[in-house]
Amino acid sequence: MSQQSNWSLSSRAVQAGTGRDERTGAISFPIYPSATYRHPGVGQSTGYDYTRSGNPTREVLEQSLADLEGGCRGLAFGSGMAALTTLFLLFRSGDHLVVSEDLYGGTYRVLDQVFGKFGLDVSYVDTTDTAAVAAAIRSSTRALLVETPGNPLLGVADLPALAELCRSGSILLLVDNTFLTPVLQRPLELGADVIIHSATKYLGGHSDLCAGVLVAREHELGEQLYTLQNATGGILPPQDCWLLLRSLKTLPLRMERHCGSALQVARWLQQHPRITKVYFPGLEQHPGHERAKRQQDGFGGMLSFRTESPELARQVLERIELISFAESLGGVESLMTLPAVQTHGDIPEPERLRLGIDETLLRFSVGLENVDDLLTDLRQAID
Ligand SMILES: Cc1ncc(COP(=O)(O)O)c(C=O)c1O
Repeated sequence: MSQQSNWSLSSRAVQAGTGRDERTGAISFPIYPSATYRHPGVGQSTGYDYTRSGNPTREVLEQSLADLEGGCRGLAFGSGMAALTTLFLLFRSGDHLVVSEDLYGGTYRVLDQVFGKFGLDVSYVDTTDTAAVAAAIRSSTRALLVETPGNPLLGVADLPALAELCRSGSILLLVDNTFLTPVLQRPLELGADVIIHSATKYLGGHSDLCAGVLVAREHELGEQLYTLQNATGGILPPQDCWLLLRSLKTLPLRMERHCGSALQVARWLQQHPRITKVYFPGLEQHPGHERAKRQQDGFGGMLSFRTESPELARQVLERIELISFAESLGGVESLMTLPAVQTHGDIPEPERLRLGIDETLLRFSVGLENVDDLLTDLRQAID
């Protein structure tokens, strides 16, 4: 019997797909680009008929992702938004969702501009406040969608408490795990039903791939999501499946370095006189610090900070050299953005300002460069 499930997560990540091609024993699992497959006879199948419905490279990737998240079924999509869109197709007109207010702007956009047209009803709530979530639940509530830590303010939701709340109301708990990855947080183990990833971020890790992932805890929900994926077709192509499979192998190592450097950067920013606030759950002063310690295996590589003026925020973006002024996050390269204008530009201004996403707020995805070089770059950009 295979030892596979007994190995630690970091060993299982390194071994993703290794030797799984039974015919050749290839260490690096092959890319199967074929769009279609010969049938051995009428009514017979090799298990693969058409690549939208099933592809060997995608299957090995999806199994690896499910294994790392501790779920039953993984599904790989052409982007995080394709994964979220497929997930929202589970619901129908009149259904109500409770969603984190501190969330990726694109998730807000698809709910508001696409699913709003089909009658899906959404309440945005501070999901770090379990009582506020409970108060937002109605008889028509079908799901709670949580990003934790939040984006871009890094608030930490109490996943076990939210899971309990959802269980008692037969509500699905959906967790976007993009910021932490299964290396640092496994929400399915804490009671979530489905995990979402923009695999464009840490899972891919090199800013060279656009991909999305769903992982379901239970078989039946996994099958429903597979049916929706096959019906609507937002699959990840085999070449990109291979690239993502390769990236998974270094994920634990990368996350360790992201976490260490982000903590150092957060501490450095915190003592800078021109930085008025730092949002990073690894800092003892962060309101979600203790909660993060309980439910996470590390604090991640994402932080946000507030400059003393909007002019200073713009100056930083114009002067950084090693760090790139660019959207996205989770790559080996350090990236910095102005959420008010970029990632969260589609959130109506009054709502954005109420949340505190104004033009003094910068979001920093701390990469794998030498941390002293990152601090040197920040120093020259701020001073
Ligand atoms: C937390 C989070 N979820 C989902 C998405 C959407 O993913 P993608 O850009 O891969 O479509 C993003 C993108 O930035 C994100 O940050």
